[in-house]
Amino acid sequence: MIAMKTSQLAAQFDQGETVCLSFHYHNKFNISFLNSLITKILARNNKVYLRDTVITVLKEIIVNAVKANSKRFFFSLNNLDMYNNEEYTRGMTEFKSFIVARKELIESELKKSNYRVKLYLKKNGNGFTIVVRNNTPMHPDETLRVRERIEKARSYKDFADVYEDLSDDTEGEGLGLLLTILFLRNSGIGEESLRIESQNGFTQTSLLIPETIKPGPIVNKIQTKILNEVDELPSFPENIMELIRLSKKPDVSMKELSDRIVLDPALAASVLKLSNSAGFITRKRIDSVHDAVKIIGLKNLNMILVASSARNIMSARYSAFKEIWNHCNRAAFYARQIALQKGYAALAEHAFLSGLLHDLGKIVLLSTTAKLVEWISDFTRNREIRTSTVLEEIAIGMSHSTIGASIADKWNLPHYIIESVRHHHSPLNSDAAFRDIVALTYLANTLCGIESNRYDYPSVEEEVLSMFSLEDRDAFNSFHETLQSQYEEHNDVISSAS
Ligand SMILES: [Fe+2]
Ligand SMILES: [Fe+2]
Repeated sequence: MIAMKTSQLAAQFDQGETVCLSFHYHNKFNISFLNSLITKILARNNKVYLRDTVITVLKEIIVNAVKANSKRFFFSLNNLDMYNNEEYTRGMTEFKSFIVARKELIESELKKSNYRVKLYLKKNGNGFTIVVRNNTPMHPDETLRVRERIEKARSYKDFADVYEDLSDDTEGEGLGLLLTILFLRNSGIGEESLRIESQNGFTQTSLLIPETIKPGPIVNKIQTKILNEVDELPSFPENIMELIRLSKKPDVSMKELSDRIVLDPALAASVLKLSNSAGFITRKRIDSVHDAVKIIGLKNLNMILVASSARNIMSARYSAFKEIWNHCNRAAFYARQIALQKGYAALAEHAFLSGLLHDLGKIVLLSTTAKLVEWISDFTRNREIRTSTVLEEIAIGMSHSTIGASIADKWNLPHYIIESVRHHHSPLNSDAAFRDIVALTYLANTLCGIESNRYDYPSVEEEVLSMFSLEDRDAFNSFHETLQSQYEEHNDVISSAS
């Protein structure tokens, strides 16, 4: 239903009409409706890459508008006069805990009231404008705070400065507007695109998405550190490169290959481990490298060599990230199964390898900036932001997807892997030539994210759902359940054989 309605509104917007939405509260349904609509409008304007920025900023604006309405409701509920200094101070202290503790009450009371938040979307000569308006004026104290925060945001060079200033402030009080301004600046939309006004009983925040976006390079200490880190990663060892070349030769014998692999015990161990990993070709336990090569075949051996070497380099350098690799194993299994079951069988093995490597960048990111990343993920959880990628980007200047892609690039991995790693969170931005493999990786990773409650069904890109005929929510859920039980079953076979 959401999909149909948002498509109609997006068409209305295309024709130059103003699209208007009106609501009382930022509940899950409204936010996912908005996500879907904004995605479509941006996609039609060739600006889908701005999606996470626009949605995050917009959500912040809407939360503030609802908060302003809730505040009026709270003051009238308690017979407090906002324009009496003493009552205002007292009311504000109580309001802060009220808004956190009584969300349901606020939502149902606002529904009965005249307090509204309206959202207008309209094209204009210079791009398009999003206006969020609530029907309460700003209190002088709010006007002052807004002005102070905007000034403060302008004084920050980058997000690392904000982080140093506010790292204890996990509640995000006061952080929203600062963050919004830095988001706008770093995304190239520009901080001057945001305007906040209050008049005639309304407060209005407007955001202009200009036709021409000029992103400036974001350079900060952390980014430099990460870039150096990627730079210093070793290349694939020469014996592996040689094996990879050999395995591509049509006339190579399996014995020759396995004999060479056995010479390198670390490699032999990881080839065995990956050949046995859940989701791979066979359910039978493989005990020797010779059997592995025979059973999995040359094409797959090549893939296993790449994945094993990548993992070996990472684990020799960074402490164990078992959780990430386990997640990648599951994603690889899912990616391969989706390919096999949904008409992309030719891509099954590529999908598997993309799944195995898609979060490479996370390891470098976590190792380099553990404390910051932890804080980012707390912050995203608190604010229910769909993905932490966008915050990584503004905080660090690059996301784990970008970092992963530069590692894959450094290792001269095939182009489809670089592209899947780069866009496993943003499939619509990928190069059309690699759209299928990217979508497989994206969907596999998203299914894992749904299992850990990071995503939900409405947040899945509709284009991807339709590629795999999963537009129907029930069909989607039952397909997901099937994959889950296939994975558990496979894992059981593998572990009971060991
Ligand atoms: Fe990821
Ligand atoms: Fe992932």
